[in-house]
Amino acid sequence: MTTLNINGKSVTVTAAPDTPLLWVLRDELGMTGSKYGCGVGQCGACTALADGQPIRSCSVPISVLTSAQITTIESLGGNHPLQVAWVKNDVPQCGYCQSGQLMSAAALLASNPKPSDADIDAAMSGNICRCGTYQRIHAAIKEAAGFPAVAPVTAPPAPRAPRAAPQV
Ligand code: FES
Ligand code: FES
Repeated sequence: MTTLNINGKSVTVTAAPDTPLLWVLRDELGMTGSKYGCGVGQCGACTALADGQPIRSCSVPISVLTSAQITTIESLGGNHPLQVAWVKNDVPQCGYCQSGQLMSAAALLASNPKPSDADIDAAMSGNICRCGTYQRIHAAIKEAAGFPAVAPVTAPPAPRAPRAAPQV
């Protein structure tokens, strides 16, 4: 038995102490917001927070988290300013990476409420998005931080079709 503090609540779990947090969240506690991507700490899909710092929950055993305040995507509740900005900026595509992206962004804004562009890039660099939503994530974080909204990302104009050859 291991006792953890998750989203402000004390929970006792039966998983072995060397079980990574992600498995406990998803399989034992039914908290499926944190996603399994690479499983080796490289993609960020499983990001949760421990004492406000992003961790890769796929790679951190619960035995080292017994005194930490663990925060997961479920804690944001749906109306967190980041989630509102995410929706407004149409950020998610397939959505698979997005809970991890949001948790890294939440950790950033909690410690740095007015991040610079470079701060955002540094804080988000460990979260991979195969759909390429990086620009929209950046814009949504700025908006949630209170910066004016930027113009939405638009596709470049389609090339014109070549003119038909004149008929003779
Ligand atoms: S699933 Fe944890 S970092 Fe990829
Ligand atoms: S939205 Fe598809 S992987 Fe990021």
